[in-house]
Amino acid sequence: MSTYYASMAAGIALATMATLTVGGLRVMDGAMPLGALAAFILYVGMLFSAVQSSANMMDQLLTAFAGARKITEFLSAEPSVPEPPHPVPLARPVRGEIRFDSVSFGYSDESHEITGLDLTLRPGQVVAMLGSTGAGKSTIAKLIARFYDPTSGRILLDGIDLKDIAEAELRSTVVLLTQEMFLFSGTIADNLRLSRPDATDAQVAEAAMAVGAHHFIAALPDGYDTDVRHRGTRLSAGQRQLLAFARAFLADPAVIILDEATASLDIPTERALHHALRTLLAGRTALIIAHRLSTLDITDRVLVVEDGRIVDDGTPAELLAKGSGAFAALYRDAHGS
Ligand SMILES: Nc1ncnc2c1ncn2[C@@H]1O[C@H](COP(=O)(O)OP(=O)(O)O)[C@@H](O)[C@H]1O
Ligand SMILES: [Mg+2]
Repeated sequence: MSTYYASMAAGIALATMATLTVGGLRVMDGAMPLGALAAFILYVGMLFSAVQSSANMMDQLLTAFAGARKITEFLSAEPSVPEPPHPVPLARPVRGEIRFDSVSFGYSDESHEITGLDLTLRPGQVVAMLGSTGAGKSTIAKLIARFYDPTSGRILLDGIDLKDIAEAELRSTVVLLTQEMFLFSGTIADNLRLSRPDATDAQVAEAAMAVGAHHFIAALPDGYDTDVRHRGTRLSAGQRQLLAFARAFLADPAVIILDEATASLDIPTERALHHALRTLLAGRTALIIAHRLSTLDITDRVLVVEDGRIVDDGTPAELLAKGSGAFAALYRDAHGS
């Protein structure tokens, strides 16, 4: 388009110059009336303005084509986790038992992030997962949410292989919360309702109330109808986290995974969220990946992961009583003794 516009500007200048030169000479010779020259210059201008507007149209057309190509590419992308041809429905109510059956997984053919993992999360159990950066905690979380399929072995939800569960059913049963709570343009209510589009206003407010988000939402200029992208709607990290909790609560999943969801919060905010967290996790199977040990008072069981393996597993009290082991070491580290 830049070449096009530049050459067109040059074209207009040259054409006007040529018209003036040739026409001017002929007018001086008396071969052409001055009025005809003036009319001619006017026509040249009109011609070029028509060409120019068609060029603008061309510009828009090319932009639209580029956009359409990207959308088509996106829509035709093959998912790495295919939808099962014959999905097996989950028995209702979903109990939320997760079982890893000698699961191995690598992001590439050469790498082995998880090797031969056996693990059962019992229905309703709140499990904390600890371990150093790169240990494979997020990878385990993503496997449960079926962002990837294991290279070998199986992951079962209530005894059914994740690969056999219809995607829509799996997504509404297993929810993964991370640090980034994405707010789409629209109102607070729209954003909460994302997890359950048919929820009524009352249900949305009920979810917000349950996790303690109602108070700050009600204090916003337009309450639940506040546009989140509107100037002046600055939400704090803690408030965004509460919205994420409310969204998850509304979805009412049987299994919920928090991958360092509260890691970006300061400690007082995190403490304040504990009550909300308790409500959110009640009656669900929960896996909480946390840096800090502050989540421990709401967990029934602790797993310590190292190099894609579980190296410690038990209740916090059991693991501490043992005295040795990865968890006891982490605990001593955190408490400076
Ligand atoms: N998308 C990815 N592609 C390739 N390797 C990855 C990817 N995500 C994580 N890894 C690798 O997998 C290992 C475990 O990472 P991760 O599960 O994110 O650890 P954690 O959450 O415990 O810090 C690391 O060695 C990391 O480099
Ligand atoms: Mg991680």
